Amino acid sequence: MTTFRSHLREDISLRVKWLNSNRAAFCSVNKRNIIITEDSQNEWFNTYEAKKKDGVKKFFTILSDNIAIGFMGLTNMNKKIGTAGVFILIGGVENRGRGIGEQSMRYLIDYAFIDIGLKSLYLEVEESNSIAINLYNKLGFKKLSQEGGFISMSLSCDVMS
Ligand SMILES: CC(C)(COP(=O)(O)OP(=O)(O)OC[C@H]1O[C@@H](n2cnc3c(N)ncnc32)[C@H](O)[C@@H]1OP(=O)(O)O)[C@@H](O)C(=O)NCCC(=O)NCCS
Repeated sequence: MTTFRSHLREDISLRVKWLNSNRAAFCSVNKRNIIITEDSQNEWFNTYEAKKKDGVKKFFTILSDNIAIGFMGLTNMNKKIGTAGVFILIGGVENRGRGIGEQSMRYLIDYAFIDIGLKSLYLEVEESNSIAINLYNKLGFKKLSQEGGFISMSLSCDVMS
């Protein structure tokens, strides 16, 4: 069963493992081959906690049968204009292609549009990441532009109603 909980500081060692093993297939968090360390993730978490308090970020840990397998979240939330960036990563390849990414994104989209009341979500994805692009297309994201190897996409809450 797939469940979700708040992203916690205790997830840092998993973040380090997952982010380093996925450096090639990334969007907003780690665009280009930066080595992720425990220190950098501790710093990230400090910033995250402050931004979460300010309502700018909200991340979830994704669990499969109670085991943490990935994370996802909303970044740069602007409640005034109703927008946020989205990000998702399922850590191990063994957990991909089982419907968990889609289930997780649907949870995140409902959270953004229904619980928070946002109006649109946006993301950037590498143009070679066809798996993620297929997922975003399936969820109703529309391509906005393509530049420097990345595709920008957005999803409006009107599409979901
Ligand atoms: C992208 C990612 C979140 C997708 O999650 P997932 O659990 O693997 O995907 P799901 O099993 O839920 O599949 C959902 C849809 O994604 C697409 N998809 C999944 N696996 C695919 C594959 N091997 N080939 C092509 N499309 C695929 C399909 O559209 C699929 O819908 P379908 O089953 O009706 O065909 C996951 O693979 C991942 O975390 N990848 C690494 C990090 C990453 O690239 N994040 C996105 C950065 S912007």
